[in-house]
Amino acid sequence: MTTMNPAVEKVLNNLEGKTMKLLIGSKWVEAQSGRSFETRNPATGELLCRVAEGDAADVDAAVAAARQTFEGPWRNFKPNQRQNLLLKLADLVEANYDELCVLDTLDMGVPMRRTLGNRHRVVSTIRYYASQAMSIHGETIENSLDGEFFTCALKEPVGVVGAIIPWNSPLYQTLKKIAVCVAAGCTMVLKPAEEAPLTPLRLAELCLEAGFPPGVLNVVPGFGSTAGARLAAHPDVDKVAFTGSHFTGQKIIQASAGNVKRLSVELGGKSPNIIFADADLEKAVPGAAMAVFNNAGQICCAGTRMYVERSIYDEFVARVAEFGKRMRVGNGLDPETEMGPLVSANQLERVTGYLKRGQEEGATAASGGSRLTDGEYAKGFFVAPTVFTNVTDNMTIAREEIFGPVISAIVFDEIDDVVKRANDTIFGLGSGIWTTDVSKAHKIARRIRAGTVWVNAYNVLDPAVPFGGYKMSGYGREGGIHHVDEFLQTKALILNTD
Ligand code: NAI
Ligand code: MG
Repeated sequence: MTTMNPAVEKVLNNLEGKTMKLLIGSKWVEAQSGRSFETRNPATGELLCRVAEGDAADVDAAVAAARQTFEGPWRNFKPNQRQNLLLKLADLVEANYDELCVLDTLDMGVPMRRTLGNRHRVVSTIRYYASQAMSIHGETIENSLDGEFFTCALKEPVGVVGAIIPWNSPLYQTLKKIAVCVAAGCTMVLKPAEEAPLTPLRLAELCLEAGFPPGVLNVVPGFGSTAGARLAAHPDVDKVAFTGSHFTGQKIIQASAGNVKRLSVELGGKSPNIIFADADLEKAVPGAAMAVFNNAGQICCAGTRMYVERSIYDEFVARVAEFGKRMRVGNGLDPETEMGPLVSANQLERVTGYLKRGQEEGATAASGGSRLTDGEYAKGFFVAPTVFTNVTDNMTIAREEIFGPVISAIVFDEIDDVVKRANDTIFGLGSGIWTTDVSKAHKIARRIRAGTVWVNAYNVLDPAVPFGGYKMSGYGREGGIHHVDEFLQTKALILNTD
């Protein structure tokens, strides 16, 4: 391995032999059950440390702390004070950025090469929400009432938020949830994914260092069916913000019914990425490959259904397959690594199941197609970057979210047909169009039923631009003013001034 980042050794030493605690109010505490679980490095199988396993009782305590703070001191925090907290947090994240990236890599495998390159975007995302804290406003409304009335719509924070996040991008997912809550004036209980709890816990330390009042952020790591389910059903939680699979999303929607919670659910996808013969192939080849191989395919908006126009299909698929074969797959701590392992043994089993299924249903692997097991690979959960060719729309690999480095290459002949097929999915998260004909791209973009359409680009995110799903990819938007609005409620004030 080429030289490791100097932050790695420090982080490993810090973790060794430890059992991480839960953050409730201002205190780091053990789980009430006394139980804890292991978290391991998916590239090597090595134990990193243990983490307190929060359960219903711990969630209850965390919700009580969040409620107390919301009804108490937090109410009197002015927008500029909330802004200052986020600006301070942004500075701390910037100063500790390498360490946070190391934690993400150790806990879930993402290459440092990828996360270190996102430094500016991650930090500016927090600063963006800091500016939003001071931009919240309601409206005055002209009324037609008899007599003299002043009428207006006020914006108020929704209250105590339960945030349930996935493991695929712990740093970014956690930061977005914290930043929007603070911008809107909510308090929150965060349940990290059991596969990758370490970055969220470190971020919570930084929040305290930034001066967050106790109880604004509470963190309860634990399992979905216990801690997660309690948070989703909790009668004193006003809103749940969930990102994860659509199966769990459906359970969360059901659990919310008990107290008619507000919800935002950012779920999975099976996003189409459409390549026209007139595309700039120098850009489209790496663009289409990285639309999926980025983060080993563990990205909700991954462009996994690659529709390629017939006249370039063979050449294009061969070039994307070649790209996959050349990718440096390995331990994400190595600065040369372009693709890391899958997050867990479970995820490996799921993905290799789809690789098998694809071949059984008649697809051919133009690259990859199996787990990597030679040498060091054997210790981790590595899968080769895979391009399946001869895929048809009805195959399982063209319909279900795989969440691994697997591209399904599908041929198409003309625009109406490809638009119809691109929309023929239960999901509607991301989508891509590659062409040098901008007016064609624009027309098609309007017809795709998905929350985001990228043209001659993929996976490009900006904090001011809304992100979210159509159909079973969920509802609610992250990013932009739309995101903060999801954490606000509207109160009418009708004042008789006679
Ligand atoms: P998941 O949706 O089960 O996990 C996401 C979060 O939900 C975790 O924090 C988990 O603890 C929590 N959770 C699980 N069950 C819960 C419940 N009943 N109530 C409340 N919270 C609960 O996803 P998982 O099992 O980690 O991955 C399985 C598949 O889901 C992946 O292969 C992928 O297809 C998809 N997925 C999609 C994501 C996305 O961003 N679109 C993120 C993670 C997974
Ligand atoms: Mg882990």
